[in-house]
Amino acid sequence: MCGIVGYLGKRPAQPILIEGLKRLEYRGYDSAGVALCDGTRLSVVRSVGRIGNLQQRLAARGDDPSSLGIAHTRWATHGEPTEINAHPHTDASGRIALVHNGIVENYASLKEFLVGEGLAFRSQTDTEVLAQLVGYLYDGDLASAVRAALGRVQGTYGIAVISADEPGLLVAARKGSPLLIGVGDGEYIVASDPSAIVPHTDRVIYLDDGEMASITADAVRTVTLDNVPVDKTEARVELSLEQIELDGYEHYMLKEICEQPATLRNCLAGRLDVRDGRIQLGGVAAHLRQLATSGRITLIGCGTAWHAGLVGGYLFESLARMPAAVDYASEFRYRNPIIEPGTVVIAISQSGETADTLAALREARERGALVLGVVNAVGSTIARETDAGVYLHVGPEIGVASTKAFTGQLAVLTMLAMTLGRRRHMSIGMFESLLHGLSKIPDAIARALEQSDLIRGIAARNVERNNWLFLGRGLNYPVALEGALKLKEISYIHAEGMPAAEMKHGPIALISRGTPAVFIATRSEQYEKVISNMEEVRSRGGRLIVIGNEGDKQVSGLADEFIPVPEVPEPLAPMVNVVPLQLLAYHAAVIRGCNVDKPRNLAKSVTVE
Ligand code: M6R
Repeated sequence: MCGIVGYLGKRPAQPILIEGLKRLEYRGYDSAGVALCDGTRLSVVRSVGRIGNLQQRLAARGDDPSSLGIAHTRWATHGEPTEINAHPHTDASGRIALVHNGIVENYASLKEFLVGEGLAFRSQTDTEVLAQLVGYLYDGDLASAVRAALGRVQGTYGIAVISADEPGLLVAARKGSPLLIGVGDGEYIVASDPSAIVPHTDRVIYLDDGEMASITADAVRTVTLDNVPVDKTEARVELSLEQIELDGYEHYMLKEICEQPATLRNCLAGRLDVRDGRIQLGGVAAHLRQLATSGRITLIGCGTAWHAGLVGGYLFESLARMPAAVDYASEFRYRNPIIEPGTVVIAISQSGETADTLAALREARERGALVLGVVNAVGSTIARETDAGVYLHVGPEIGVASTKAFTGQLAVLTMLAMTLGRRRHMSIGMFESLLHGLSKIPDAIARALEQSDLIRGIAARNVERNNWLFLGRGLNYPVALEGALKLKEISYIHAEGMPAAEMKHGPIALISRGTPAVFIATRSEQYEKVISNMEEVRSRGGRLIVIGNEGDKQVSGLADEFIPVPEVPEPLAPMVNVVPLQLLAYHAAVIRGCNVDKPRNLAKSVTVE
């Protein structure tokens, strides 16, 4: 995700800012930039790609003694990863510069207002809207202008702002996006993450949500966004750099599993409008009519993304009553697929760089399909080569095993299926009830995560078994496939996922005393049938590890190991039910001593066919 560093002190700011940005590199970014103030004017330097590119540009300008500056690594959300979209952004006068983490949800209406006031915009970003708004409201008092601007903003932010007209001041504010102030000897370093300040100081002031700081050479004045003074106490940072980057987690995979309540909130933010009973998917808005009348929708992807596609296929059929096919991207391409006028192909990819998916979408476009992307990495090749799409907004995924991208993909596909369903036949009552349910999914995931210790125990008791089955029906069948994939790719245990009813057609021969059979048996239309399948396994000596709804005595009574999850509306259950399976695979891999974040033979992004 994006990173912020700001410096005010006696030393040249530039090397400190660059070093800080490098310490934030692990968070993922696609462009970077710096604004420096020499006491009379601002200079802004930005570049696409690695921080090395930015350093080269700065080096070409020669030494800069400025001791006030802000810097940023951007992970694109609104607008492509281009130099013009990189932060810092400036106001119309070019004398105020701002860096921002988060999303300004009402940026479109603010921009419309500012354009009406005669301001011109250079970038496609929500952040430039905020910078221009601060400039528009500025009358010689930067802190007041920032506070007034934030009063008009809906969304999340961590920001740092400087002005050439007040060269002894750095303003910082936070709401929903972390920001802290490192306190040194006559100097202050603002950062979105402690790793940027630890080389300089271990003294830190953590801003809380809704707080703003005005930092000058000799003081930090902290107020609420309503301008009520707040007394802050300094804390000590006692973590090593590696611990900081992992935010206290042992592995990125665990961190990414655990941050899913937050990443899903981000994915839904600005799209779900529960109050007005609407879903807004700006990226595909222009194509909704074609989508809703399409005679054929094909979802393509690989690995986890394909599993998300399978869930999406069920949802398009059941919620939107539309014919949907799901294909491995690698197979689609060589199958001579039928593309008729009106065919829509949806390419799903976390990285946006998977070669098989890319080749398949090129084939589909070539044959005249409308191709939409459900992609995480903004500006990636797949995002650029699709006709339109919806980004996941779940932040960079570093662990090779895909986790938070899967739940993000499910959330986007669910929103899409609901939108189409509503356009076609879905009643307002059903739509609103699903909308409400979807808004509660981050909380349900947080509850599922509470079972981590229980799941670790289950993994420990079964980790010596070398063959596992994962079984589910309906929407839980792709979840079973995903559980099996997670286990095999990071713990190297052989696992097979399948529809629970298919087991009796062959795989049941694999069951012997103690074979772990992981069932997803949450309440659904096929609940009773899944219970029968569990009985079949039990009577052959298999060991039942069952994910069921909290308080379900029937299922827990049958299970050898029971993992409770909250009950949510059936179409939304995969987002919750997959979480224990991610944790099961994670704990099994750790117990077996495997390299969780970089499993053998695997790459994060598979860019060869
Ligand atoms: O970046 P993509 O979503 O296109 O990647 C697709 C697969 O390579 C990916 O999901 C892979 O299966 C993961 N390692 C699964 O955890």
